[in-house]
Amino acid sequence: MKLLNFGSLNIDYVYSLDHLVLPGETISSNRRDIFCGGKGLNQSIAFAKAGAKVYHAGKVGQDGKLLLDVLERHGVDCSYVQTIEGASGHTIIQVDRKGENSIILYGGANRMITPEDVTEVLSHFTAGDVVVLQNEISSLKEIILQAHDKGMKIIFNPAPFEQKLLEYPLEYIDLLIVNEVEGGQCSGKTEPKEILTTLYNRYHTAVLLTLGKEGAMYYDGDDMESHPIYPSNVVDTTAAGDTFTGYFSNALLTGSTPKQALELASKASSITVSRFGAADSIPYYAEIQEQFGE
Ligand code: RIB
Repeated sequence: MKLLNFGSLNIDYVYSLDHLVLPGETISSNRRDIFCGGKGLNQSIAFAKAGAKVYHAGKVGQDGKLLLDVLERHGVDCSYVQTIEGASGHTIIQVDRKGENSIILYGGANRMITPEDVTEVLSHFTAGDVVVLQNEISSLKEIILQAHDKGMKIIFNPAPFEQKLLEYPLEYIDLLIVNEVEGGQCSGKTEPKEILTTLYNRYHTAVLLTLGKEGAMYYDGDDMESHPIYPSNVVDTTAAGDTFTGYFSNALLTGSTPKQALELASKASSITVSRFGAADSIPYYAEIQEQFGE
């Protein structure tokens, strides 16, 4: 089984603030950091740090060398990442003193992926291989359709959520990963159990629902599991969801039960939120073992 992440790569410009800027307000920041991020890149690194062999596909611009470097440093195969004219995707992220964030996303090269690119990349993969997707790149629907036609398994994190995603063939997804906001938008429900059962009944896909401070839940038609968070000194929640996605999915793909996968991913995310930044804040498996004494 080969694991492909067809996903975004962003340069994150992160501004530390007392509080998130309000409409009409100007506040100054005394700290700006530049981090490698993008839900795609973060999730590839989470998979890699969890121990998986990952192929990443996507596009960066002329300024994207640092994004390729960080992936390669973590052993991610970047043969299917193209460097094109123009700018890479980037974000402007505000982080307040409680670690909450708000994000402006500019797609850049992530939005230049064409259906032809999809066909070319997927020609290197086959039935039984797994593709991981988020909603920060173009030609997403084509990837779902072509991956399904090939018999690949599809893990989809529809973040950030857009209404048009509901017109995609979500019944082809094997594992849908949503937070409480995306889960509510996808299902039209607010209560966690109802979100899970509604999405499962509608798409017949396993669903992982992350609930921030309330932990996470999973439902696949048989098992309904939940897990609380581990206490942590929260400094920045960026990439917590990506950490959860990588660790949880890799655990399931390598034979863990949903309950074990929830436990491991909760531990991993509790470390991510205690550190500043995106990809770099994701812990290695050995760090989780060290911290939680496994
Ligand atoms: O999930 C966190 C990521 O979302 C950030 O790294 C940022 O690039 C945005 O895509």
